[in-house]
Amino acid sequence: MKLFNALFHSSVGKKYVMGMTGLALFGFVIGHMLGNLQIFLGPDKINAYGAFLKSMPKLLWAARISLLACVFLHIASAISLVRDNRRARPVAYQVRQARSTTFASRTMIWSGLIVLSFIIYHLFDFTISPDYKGVDSEGRHDIFAMVVLGFSNPFSAAFYILANTLLAIHLSHGMQSLFQSLGWSVGRFRQAFHNLALLVGWSVFIGNVSIPVAVLLGFGKEAV
Ligand code: HEM
Repeated sequence: MKLFNALFHSSVGKKYVMGMTGLALFGFVIGHMLGNLQIFLGPDKINAYGAFLKSMPKLLWAARISLLACVFLHIASAISLVRDNRRARPVAYQVRQARSTTFASRTMIWSGLIVLSFIIYHLFDFTISPDYKGVDSEGRHDIFAMVVLGFSNPFSAAFYILANTLLAIHLSHGMQSLFQSLGWSVGRFRQAFHNLALLVGWSVFIGNVSIPVAVLLGFGKEAV
């Protein structure tokens, strides 16, 4: 109970919850991206990967429930911290100090909410009710065909690209905040950690966006 109070009733505790859940979600995003990039190795690899994940239903559901809990705690602590900040300063600043806040930091809540709406769309698109439910010659869900057909729709591909742009902004800034909270991003290391956060966020962008862009350029069309 003491731990619960320390975590959820103090700003430091809430920041800790936000940072740790953010880190877990980031781990998922990296794993998911690496898994998805197997699409470039051909239908057999990505379909086998999907079948492998589904062959461990207990583990899969444990991971899904943990992810959902992380999403919930991440959002709840973010909203609560925004409220704490407003309570601490009920009257808005007359002049915004443009230099002390960046575009990313001012829009964290919005980039986060749009990424969340993307995840809900994405779940319906590829997991809950995909338009394409076909199987390959081995009887496995044909994820390759589903993804290629999905991204052949330029509107859907454009939404993925937009959502991944916001995700990159959100991840880069989130990571910078985490480095600051951990006390690493200080003095002469400040710029290095800033650059590292940007590099990681935008590497995820390149990895994820390479798939819809490749499909729009014709990748995989001959196989579906
Ligand atoms: C363009 C990049 C992406 C591609 C190609 C992609 C592809 C997929 C596919 C094929 C599935 C279904 C897997 C299956 O049913 O076996 C899936 C599920 C999922 N994706 Fe993505 N994804 C992308 C980006 C993202 C991003 C950026 C996020 C989160 C920020 C995300 C979150 C999820 C989640 C939560 C699931 C459900 C996992 C589960 O139910 O086990 N995806 N994705």
